[in-house]
Amino acid sequence: MTTESPEAQVSEAQIAVHWREEEYVHPTEAFIAQANAADPAIFERFSEANFPDCFTEYADLLSWDEKWHTVLDTSNAPFWKWFVGGRLNASYNCVDRHLATSANKAALIWVPEPESVDPVAITYRDLYHRVNEFAALLRDFCGLKAGDRVTLHMPMVPELPVAMLACARLGVIHSQVFGGFSGNACGTRIADSGSRILITIDGYYRSGDLIDHKVKADEALEEARKQGQEADKVLVFRRHPGQYASATPMTEGRDFFVDEIIGKYRGAIVAPESMPAEAPLFLMYTSGTTGRPKGAQHSTGGYLAYVAGTSKYYQDIHPDDTYWCMADIGWITGHSYIVYGPLALGTTTVIFEGTPTYPDAGRPWRIAERLGVNIFHTSPTSIRMLRKVGPDEPAKYNYHFKHMTTVGEPIEPEVWRWYHEYVGKGEAVIVDTWWQTETGGFLGSSLPALKPMKPGSCGPAVIGIYPAIYDENGGQVPDGKAGNICIRNPWPGIMETVWGQPERFIDVYYRKYNKNPDSKDWHDWPYFAGDGAVRAPDGYYRILGRVDDVINVAGHRLGTKELESAALTVPEIAEAAAVPVIDDIRGRAVEMYVSLKPGYVASDEMAGKVTHAIEVEIGKIARPKNVWIVPDMPKTRSGKIMRRVIAAVSNFTDVGDVTTLANPEVVEGIRHHVQSVKVSKGETPRKLTEAEYEELKKFGEA
Ligand code: WT7
Repeated sequence: MTTESPEAQVSEAQIAVHWREEEYVHPTEAFIAQANAADPAIFERFSEANFPDCFTEYADLLSWDEKWHTVLDTSNAPFWKWFVGGRLNASYNCVDRHLATSANKAALIWVPEPESVDPVAITYRDLYHRVNEFAALLRDFCGLKAGDRVTLHMPMVPELPVAMLACARLGVIHSQVFGGFSGNACGTRIADSGSRILITIDGYYRSGDLIDHKVKADEALEEARKQGQEADKVLVFRRHPGQYASATPMTEGRDFFVDEIIGKYRGAIVAPESMPAEAPLFLMYTSGTTGRPKGAQHSTGGYLAYVAGTSKYYQDIHPDDTYWCMADIGWITGHSYIVYGPLALGTTTVIFEGTPTYPDAGRPWRIAERLGVNIFHTSPTSIRMLRKVGPDEPAKYNYHFKHMTTVGEPIEPEVWRWYHEYVGKGEAVIVDTWWQTETGGFLGSSLPALKPMKPGSCGPAVIGIYPAIYDENGGQVPDGKAGNICIRNPWPGIMETVWGQPERFIDVYYRKYNKNPDSKDWHDWPYFAGDGAVRAPDGYYRILGRVDDVINVAGHRLGTKELESAALTVPEIAEAAAVPVIDDIRGRAVEMYVSLKPGYVASDEMAGKVTHAIEVEIGKIARPKNVWIVPDMPKTRSGKIMRRVIAAVSNFTDVGDVTTLANPEVVEGIRHHVQSVKVSKGETPRKLTEAEYEELKKFGEA
């Protein structure tokens, strides 16, 4: 095959250039009748005139040891402090306070991946004991105290929320690293957070295999040491207590099996540490434009209030619901909307160890039927996958959702409609929630009983959030036009800072639209979200995607710099560039372009080394779809790699004007090679949307 195949060439004219506004879809009467927020007076209560006091309604959902004296302190803008003077404990709020009414109700239902094994219900009373015992171990065996950091590298097992809540009980700051991340990625985060303790597990089930996970702990500690951080203890849970599932040895005096040492703490009760509202509860690392990951630091009082409030009104969680969010606790979605929000409200939250399509695409619906799940929460990538491999599966199972969430990436209207009609059986209301690791909780979503849904649009801003869309110069962009979405006001869920990098916190999120660096007035400090967006005349927002060099793969952010530095750990590689390619299931996939140092020749083996390096440095989720070895990168005269040009090549769009490049002659060769291989592999793209086209055109300009 040749590159001249007509399907392969997508011209600008063929690209859908017009965004069609979708029709509203209304929630059912049955949903409205039981909703937590069904009185439109809530919009008035959270109007700008009532800011910031409106958020005391969220804080009042919690139990405080001491009440705050100041709702919002802006004296060190933009390092906002919420509920100052207040004291509370997150573990007390998520566990202890529910004992009086719900001790024997399931707090967690854990669904192990092997389907032959029954789900495990952990009551609030069980959870209370497990959290207390583990907190005693952390305090007495590890010597941890309030303010210390601990890194967790755990999969979807109940020991993960137990460990998080045990840290919270002591005021210890947890930093959970997504279990699928590599040992090196974990090590970097251990070093950045200054953790002395790593909590991990020997293995876990994924698509039928018991995966060796402890091996990553050894790599992580090695990497952390290289970066100057010594860890002195590794606590290793065992997936099957008493049976070690990893091939790597336990290091004497450093590695300890939790099931062997926890016995000493049986029945221990640890008083919850009364923490100031602004004490950090946890760190959640995320990717940005530069290589070093950012530890988003979330507070105890503001964060917990915000996730409790949004869980109540937007997730419509009642104490008697059975709530299942299929995200991983290793991401912010899991922290806010599997662990902290649902448990603060005293509901039952489901934790699933496995992948949704294993052993087949009926698995999620069997779980929902078996457990009586009535609130379901997942990502567009999972919905696309389940729709592709099992479109008729939901109808085979007798479950009924009243409410469903989509989160993490834009959802295509036709995918939305399948979710509504097939998964939700036309009964469930849908919220498309737009937010970020940094924001702690939702920013954009329809309020389910009070605002209609509009497929493909996240809806209006959530209550208490006042956005604006600005152009590059800070001018307000009219409705229907794209710009940078910002939030004009602070809110309780916003991160407090970037751990150890306060300047970066200001630079990345506030510098761009700040009106006066000395101002103590929040009106002068709009939060720059880093997303492009359009507002429709009805006030609904459509999120277009990142405006920085971040690639959103299946709802997970990967920084181009991180990918490129990983590729550059291969000694033969001279230069590397990462670009997004539109992917029908995962939204975006990563493609790498690399050039070799003199004297080396391109080979599949060389490309394999680049893929391997990315898996080692970041993890399998970052594995590139293709690695293209090119003789030379297209560059500007100042030597900057033109990612926009290679992104156009990978996506079969117009490379645009290349005459100003230092080496325009290389482009045609790269295009010919890449596109002919792609055509032969059947990797030609579908019609792109206007938003996708715009994103690619601007890629790498940040
Ligand atoms: C980025 C944040 C939100 C928690 C999980 C991801 C994109 C998120 C939506 C949505 C369109 C969305 C944005 C955002 N995003 N939700 N509903 N519609 N785009 O958190 O890894 O911090 O990523 O995900 O681009 O900036 P994250």
